[in-house]
Amino acid sequence: MITPFQDKRIVLGVTGSIAVYKSVDLASKLAQSGAVVDVILTQSATQFVTPLTFQSVTGQPAYTDSDLWGSQGHIQHIGLARHAKQLVIAPITANTLAKLAHGIADNLLTVTALAARCPIILAPAMDGDMYAHPATQTNLDTLRQRDVTIIGPTEGHLASGMTGIGRMVESIELLGLIRYGLTRHGPLRNKKIIVTASGTYEPIDPIRGIMNRSSGKQGFALAQAALDKGADVTLISGPTHLAAPIGVDHMEIRTAEEMLAAVLKALPDSTALLMAAAVADFRPVSPTKEKVKKSAGGPKLELEATPDILAAVAKEKSKHGYPEISVGFAAESQDLISNARQKLEAKQLDLIIANDISATDAGFAVDTNRVTILDAGGGEEVLPLMSKDEVAQFVLERVIGLLGLSSNEQY
Ligand code: CTP
Repeated sequence: MITPFQDKRIVLGVTGSIAVYKSVDLASKLAQSGAVVDVILTQSATQFVTPLTFQSVTGQPAYTDSDLWGSQGHIQHIGLARHAKQLVIAPITANTLAKLAHGIADNLLTVTALAARCPIILAPAMDGDMYAHPATQTNLDTLRQRDVTIIGPTEGHLASGMTGIGRMVESIELLGLIRYGLTRHGPLRNKKIIVTASGTYEPIDPIRGIMNRSSGKQGFALAQAALDKGADVTLISGPTHLAAPIGVDHMEIRTAEEMLAAVLKALPDSTALLMAAAVADFRPVSPTKEKVKKSAGGPKLELEATPDILAAVAKEKSKHGYPEISVGFAAESQDLISNARQKLEAKQLDLIIANDISATDAGFAVDTNRVTILDAGGGEEVLPLMSKDEVAQFVLERVIGLLGLSSNEQY
């Protein structure tokens, strides 16, 4: 599957900190995602890790100061800087931060940073007191004012054995931030897309409730795919263990009622609503404040219908015109197409994504899905078994098509 990293040149600067082990992981993840990663190590970084380590995970030469004055030395830093889509320095020490803030260019990395015109991301790692020092804080402010993105550091165990703020963020967060930065010019730039995901939870008492098997995987994949197309994404999810993609505005709710409120609040000026959540259809009429005791015998649960969120959205749309596009999902165990078409019409949708939940390789809690996309014009597109990420890309392509936007460029 093509990702926004494909063939993108990222310069990864590495300075001297024990957090370099996270950079090796980041370089590996970037390369596996299709990026071309040029690593530049400072002299101190080579005390912790060798260029060979990076070369082994990126398949690319890794540079050190010896390349600054090497055979192509006079152009190396300019070339690396010019071709980069992003310059990421992770970890960056207090010393290199200070150099960047003051425009000092005394090694291959700082020379490259001064020549770079691409977005810059810095992930500091240092001792807590060095981080808190006014000099470091002033340097960070200076760099922020120049639109440099600073991520972290976070709080936790430090190399000194103490606990404090100074740990470099995890590689997965940096990967998400880089991905976000690479996709801001996509076809859905400045468009607001709302995605709902996972199941809702309807309480019986303070510790028990009714929920369903939805994992949220398809919804979270849709949120990532919408981000990848450049959209501003609001993700509204029920309880889930999944980490939200970096860059989404994530709201966690519990009940169908709360999801309705969150969707209605997010709706103004939205371009599309992708309603992938498995919303509970019924909830206990009167959840108890206190825990239901076993001694009272098996409780009788009286259930009532929850609000239909898509029906409420259709009403809003008729009044205000947003969202421009409504997409529903139909999980069916029988009569897939006819049931889905009925829902598409009843809920006034532009698209409905129908999937047969009786299959074991598709639907709830697995990584793959087999769906049919139905549109309001009577069209029907049967997709083969594919990953939920691929399904999400397909759905976003259809949304882009319905909006009359061009998606010629992948990213
Ligand atoms: N949906 C909704 N509000 C609800 C229930 C469902 O907005 N209270 C949305 C779902 O998020 C999905 C679509 O409606 O996009 C279809 O959901 P589904 O559960 O398949 O349909 P229901 O209308 O609940 O009908 P049934 O459960 O009887 O098949």
